[in-house]
Amino acid sequence: MRPAQRPRRSGVNDMQVVQFSDPHIDLRFPHRAAALARAVTHVNTMPAGPDAVLITGDCVEHGHPDEYALFQDLLRPLRAPVFIVPGNHDDRAALLTLYPPPAPNLPGFLQYAVDDFPLRLIGLDTHRPGHGGGELDGARLDWLEARLREAPERPTLLFMHHPPVRTGLHVMDGMDLRGREALCDLLLDHPQVLRVVAGHLHMSLTAGFAHTTVMTCPGTDATLHPDLSRPAQLRVQRQPPMCLLHAWTPETGLNSFTQVIAPAPWHPLFDGDRWHDFDPPHGPYLSL
Ligand SMILES: [Fe+2]
Repeated sequence: MRPAQRPRRSGVNDMQVVQFSDPHIDLRFPHRAAALARAVTHVNTMPAGPDAVLITGDCVEHGHPDEYALFQDLLRPLRAPVFIVPGNHDDRAALLTLYPPPAPNLPGFLQYAVDDFPLRLIGLDTHRPGHGGGELDGARLDWLEARLREAPERPTLLFMHHPPVRTGLHVMDGMDLRGREALCDLLLDHPQVLRVVAGHLHMSLTAGFAHTTVMTCPGTDATLHPDLSRPAQLRVQRQPPMCLLHAWTPETGLNSFTQVIAPAPWHPLFDGDRWHDFDPPHGPYLSL
C-alpha cells in the first residue's frame, strides 16, 4: 500500500476519493487491462485530482503473479495513493506482499484504517478463501469495533469487496457476506460511519443499512444491468464502465457521485459569472 504522500490542497479541510472496482485483470483478455488503463487516465485527468483511490477487490481473475504484475504496472501512473481490499478472486497473501497495509491494521488480513485525511477510511477484508461469498468473522468485526470506538467523532467511510446487502438475484445472493447482520448491529452504535462502499456485484446499487447507506461501484470494464424479472438467472445488459467519486466537506457531509469512465472533454457550463450554452449533439461519449 502506498502511504498518503501529501494533502491534496494544504490547509483545505475537505477530501475527494475515487473508487474503482473489479478490474479482473486476466492475461487472456487484454481489453480488461485497457479498461483499467482508461480508468487510471480518467482519474489523472480530473481537474481536482483525488486525495486517494480505493480499489474494492477482484483486482485480478485468478490470483496469479503475472496478473498482479500487470495490475501493478497499470496502477503505476496514478498520482494519488491507492488503497486496496481483496475480493473473492484475489490472493490475499499476494496482495499483502504487494500492498502492505498501513497501521493500524489487523495482522494476517488486508484490513486497516487510513487516518491521514479529514475523512477516515477503513478497509475491511471480506475474503473467504475458496468461496465466492465473503465473511466478516469475530476477529474482523472486533477489530472494526475497536477502531470505531477510538474515534467516534471522525467522519468515516468503510470500503470492502462484498456488500452487506441482499440483491434478490439468486446467484449474487449465493455469494453474499457472512456476518452482515452483526456488522449492521455494530454500525447502529457508530453514526460516524457515513457510508459503506463495496464492489463484487459489477452493478450500481444503493441500499439502506443500519443508520447509513451502502453503495456498490460497478466494474472498470463494464457496468451490468440485471434482468430482475428472472431472479433465478443472471441475465444482464452490458453498459459502460463506471467509478464513484466520494466527496466530503464539513459543510456538505459525504456526497457520492457516479461517473461513467469515458474520454469526454470538460465544458465551462458556468464560469462563475455567466452560463454558457451546452448542447453537444454528438459528444465523444456516444462513440464508446
Ligand atoms: Fe468481481
